[in-house]
Amino acid sequence: DYKGEEVTRAPVVSVMGHVDHGKTSLLDYIRRAKVAAGESGGITQHIGAYHVETGHGMISFLDTPGHAAFTAMRARGANSTDIVILVVAADDGVMPQTEEAVQHARSAGVPIIVAVNKIDKEAADPDRVKNELAAKDVIPEDWGGDVQFVEVSAHTGQGIDELLDAVLLQAEVLELKAVPSAPAKGVVVEASLDKGRGAVSTVLIQNGTLRQGDVVIAGMFFGKVRAMLDENGKKVLEAGPSIPVEILGLNGTPDAGDDFIVVPDEKRAREVANFRQG
Ligand code: GTP
Ligand code: NA
Ligand code: MG
Repeated sequence: DYKGEEVTRAPVVSVMGHVDHGKTSLLDYIRRAKVAAGESGGITQHIGAYHVETGHGMISFLDTPGHAAFTAMRARGANSTDIVILVVAADDGVMPQTEEAVQHARSAGVPIIVAVNKIDKEAADPDRVKNELAAKDVIPEDWGGDVQFVEVSAHTGQGIDELLDAVLLQAEVLELKAVPSAPAKGVVVEASLDKGRGAVSTVLIQNGTLRQGDVVIAGMFFGKVRAMLDENGKKVLEAGPSIPVEILGLNGTPDAGDDFIVVPDEKRAREVANFRQG
């Protein structure tokens, strides 16, 4: 096993919850972006991966779709992350995908922070959200449990600083570590075939540093990293622990949730990939 200096790494946070409870809007507010407005039908269809310098420290986020059809994506999101932000609309309360997200977080052993969103709305009833979640054994700290609840609005920005503080507090407790000098390894968040660019894979680096020119194996595929892009499409030459990047150069599209790892050379990569393809 590789030995190298261990450092604290940023938390990777999966944002989950029922459809339209405001997951993408919250991330948009945090990132000062407008992803939700551009989504077809206002529906998130894939996992978006972002990292943000919050002024409270760096946090990486995975945005997951709330629709019932995307159960597998939520499971993968929970499995790739350190913390789940469970978004519950204060006017709507606990719904089926809220409960499902709780189950995913539980089975992955990942702590939950509840963002009680849409607190700006007339019909907001945050106590109802607390009661409904407590009934599912998600007990607020002020009721003697261990789950932080934060009232927020993705529209006004109310409570979002507190939410980020809650994430960083939880991250401290988890004592997240990585070894930046190690060969990179991580997990595939999503991959697709692009007409001009070929296979494009979003990967989350969990340990080590990935560099342009590295040879990687991801699921059944391999290749030399020809280019790397951050979430804004900006070219980067390297990416360290907890950072999501798009990589170009694989000879196919691995499945979301597949592991990726850097190997010494293309010969070795081809052998392993061929073996995995049977
Ligand atoms: P899916 O990804 O499709 O599951 O939805 P989502 O959870 O990402 O919700 P999205 O951000 O798309 O928001 C759904 C709707 O709620 C949009 O019309 C948002 O403008 C609105 N919304 C989100 N957050 C708030 C909020 O804090 N207050 C109010 N009033 N509306 C909000
Ligand atoms: Na939506
Ligand atoms: Mg969304």
